[in-house]
Amino acid sequence: MSGNKDYSCVKVKVDEEGIAWVAFNRPEKRNAMSPTLHFEMEEVISDLETDENSKVIVLTGEGVSWSAGMDLKEYFRETDNNPKVRFKSQWAHRHWAQYLMLSAKPTIAMVNGYCFGGAFTPLAACDIAIAAEDATFGLSEVNWGILPGGNVSKVFRDLASHRDSLFYAMTGRTFDGLKAVDMGIVNMAVPTDQLRYETVAIARELMEKSPAVLAFTKQAVKAVQGMDMNMAYEYLAAKQGALRAADKEGTRQRGMSEFLDEKSYRPGLGAVKRD
Ligand code: COA
Repeated sequence: MSGNKDYSCVKVKVDEEGIAWVAFNRPEKRNAMSPTLHFEMEEVISDLETDENSKVIVLTGEGVSWSAGMDLKEYFRETDNNPKVRFKSQWAHRHWAQYLMLSAKPTIAMVNGYCFGGAFTPLAACDIAIAAEDATFGLSEVNWGILPGGNVSKVFRDLASHRDSLFYAMTGRTFDGLKAVDMGIVNMAVPTDQLRYETVAIARELMEKSPAVLAFTKQAVKAVQGMDMNMAYEYLAAKQGALRAADKEGTRQRGMSEFLDEKSYRPGLGAVKRD
């Protein structure tokens, strides 16, 4: 299991509560993403998906940075004449970002510092994002001669407005965690010394819910984005039926009975207790 394995560019620790802490671990390089980091992430994120002890995945960075984006030396310059490594690392990156995007488990980006360029791909792939107020975000690509590639232009544009996307992609200006909240890029920003505490609070809240209900909910919210109204009605009805079959805890029945008969809780104010 990933949690028990040592990696050179990634740190993984599944704690006793079930929070899988995954950290970019190249602090001396501001956690720039090298080919090795992508290969390791591909293994770590896919392993966590089937690891029963991991209930919520938190993605963060060691040191002062979340991730300074793609490694200009190892990912770009050194692979200019090495198409094999370029190809493999591009696809490893794409794979692990997709694993994260499509994970059945809740995923939280805990942005503790710099978040540049390619780092927006894993950021956007996480369900929930919380940042330090003084974290530094930026699309720096324009400053060194490329466009925001991979799928950075796409994920940034999906998260932010047309105006902000163009402004930040074209100027390369940085913005902090509070501005990232304004722009809808992260859910909330807190002082650095509260970042971990607030992240754990969110993770605990998520762990109170049925994992099946959570998985289906996040899949549904993501899937309807590209659908028209009629298609979404059909899809959600089918997905709802599939959830009733998949939720072995019978959350729906219990939720109704605890509220309507036992009057032991209020669904508007919190989750029904799990066994
Ligand atoms: N690729 C490769 N190396 C990187 C890197 C990146 N994206 N980001 C940082 N590093 C390396 C630096 O080259 C330096 O290495 P060295 O110690 O061997 O010289 C080390 O990390 C520390 O970086 P430094 O610039 O000295 O740290 P800083 O704290 O003063 O500044 C940043 C931090 C993130 C503002 C700055 O490193 C930076 O601008 N990085 C590039 C960000 C970027 O454009 N990313 C987008 C890529 S798509």
